Amino acid sequence: MKNQGIPDHEFDGRPIIGICNTWSELTPCNAHFRKLAEHVKHGIYEAGGFPVEFPVFSNGESNLRPTAMLTRNLASMDVEEAIRGNPIDAVVLMCGCDKTTPALLMGAASVDVPAIVVTGGPMLNGKLEGKNIGSGTAVWRLHEALKAGEIDLHHFLSAEAGMSRSAGTCNTMGTASTMACMAESLGVSLPHNAAIPAVDARRYVLAHMSGSRIVQMALEDLKLSKILTREAFENAIATNAAIGGSTNAVIHLKAIAGRVGVPLELEDWTRIGRHIPTLVDLQPSGRFLMEEFYYAGGLPAVLRRLGEANRLPHPDALTVNGKSIWDNVCDAPIYDDNVIRPLDQPLIADGGICILRGNLAPNGAVLKPSAATPELLKHRGRAVVFETFDHYKATISDESLDVDQDSILVMKNCGPRGYPGMAEVGNMGLPPKLLREGVKDMVRISDARMSGTAYGTVVLHVAPEAAAGGPLAAVRNGDWIELDCEAGRLHLDISDEELVRRLRQLDPATAPGVAEQQGKGGYARLYIDHVLQADEGCDLDFLVGKRGAAVPRHSH
Ligand code: FES
Ligand code: MG
Repeated sequence: MKNQGIPDHEFDGRPIIGICNTWSELTPCNAHFRKLAEHVKHGIYEAGGFPVEFPVFSNGESNLRPTAMLTRNLASMDVEEAIRGNPIDAVVLMCGCDKTTPALLMGAASVDVPAIVVTGGPMLNGKLEGKNIGSGTAVWRLHEALKAGEIDLHHFLSAEAGMSRSAGTCNTMGTASTMACMAESLGVSLPHNAAIPAVDARRYVLAHMSGSRIVQMALEDLKLSKILTREAFENAIATNAAIGGSTNAVIHLKAIAGRVGVPLELEDWTRIGRHIPTLVDLQPSGRFLMEEFYYAGGLPAVLRRLGEANRLPHPDALTVNGKSIWDNVCDAPIYDDNVIRPLDQPLIADGGICILRGNLAPNGAVLKPSAATPELLKHRGRAVVFETFDHYKATISDESLDVDQDSILVMKNCGPRGYPGMAEVGNMGLPPKLLREGVKDMVRISDARMSGTAYGTVVLHVAPEAAAGGPLAAVRNGDWIELDCEAGRLHLDISDEELVRRLRQLDPATAPGVAEQQGKGGYARLYIDHVLQADEGCDLDFLVGKRGAAVPRHSH
């Protein structure tokens, strides 16, 4: 360590604070993290700690293929082993792009050292022709418009440039912003961490303050498991409903809870999250963007509104600053009721994530009502089946495709094993011939995920997935399917005997994504062999649980 110019007196037993950095130019959302880490260091030095910054696998959403979800667990292993194996007393988790937040929390939770999340913050509002546009959300909409011939490529590319004009993560309530809000509501970050824009000087102040706080946490031995309690997860689920958060939070929270040993079931989302109104009017469910969210009061304002209405399940839950979540937010100012609505004027009266079960999804599926078309939440339609994402892409534009606006688009083999990695392709674009007729939404069902920036009446995370022998694999063109969100039901209208007969004819080992990996080694092989289904958080089976910080023996 002395080759880095560290004087003798600093080796005096002061707390060693790791700064776990997901900086990478391939993760544009986290590309400003070296500067942010400098501010964390100022805070650590100021409080008498010794900072050591180290890189971990940077799980960037926009560049990694087949999907950053495939490598979320790999990144979590990197984080876990780096924290445990190195002499680190506590750690600052530098999170940003979607998967970086769960990956770092999962890894740190398995080691169970004191940890604090510092998020990179969202990009400034996107701008196009004088108007605001949101990352991701506008891409989906403009891509449909491009396919329908309503706009040209120049317009599309201008939108792309305009929506990504500063450092930071997606400025909508996509998965990155959702997971930042989840971290704050779980109590693992300082208040306001979720919403301060990436380029706002107050983001650097928060990084500084987090750096000085983690030194105290090391001295207090305020371990992650003391914060990540069952109560904290219940608060996060309620918060997800209030912010209109991403469906990906269902998977990530389950995976984090699994690491720390907290039981969490899909039905908890129904019990705790349903009937909580969506207050935050942000895209993709609503109108505004993260910049406005911060100026309106940010997440503390939302938590205050929930708490005042007795809708925050556990106001006493402990947070990283040593205070309860309610102590942190009870006086939080609220500056704009249009962005953070009062409870009696919600964006959606009944927010949250809808959990579905039925013979088509015995282990569950999810749908986000706030991003859906209300009239389609109860719907019966004929299946138009795509065996894979490639099959979908090859046939969706076919003018002779037997599909109308009442059809249900069904896609298979996009789950954790089948893709592999569970791609964000569940919000399948609609058939161009229907788009030209003005159809804006249809029911879609798959074992895939969808981007937190996406919208539509989209049933996701069907479990078990087709490639694991789930009933989704048995759906055929023309089958009738019933969706009933209020009743939590997803039903394939064939007899039990017929379903069993069809499933017997299928061999999950020959499912396209799985078969493709046959005989190949590498991480994808490990992943396919060990990944848990969506309802279990898509962690690798052998990574579930807390393994502690102890290291058995020295290397020399
Ligand atoms: Fe990284 Fe959206 S792509 S936050
Ligand atoms: Mg995303």
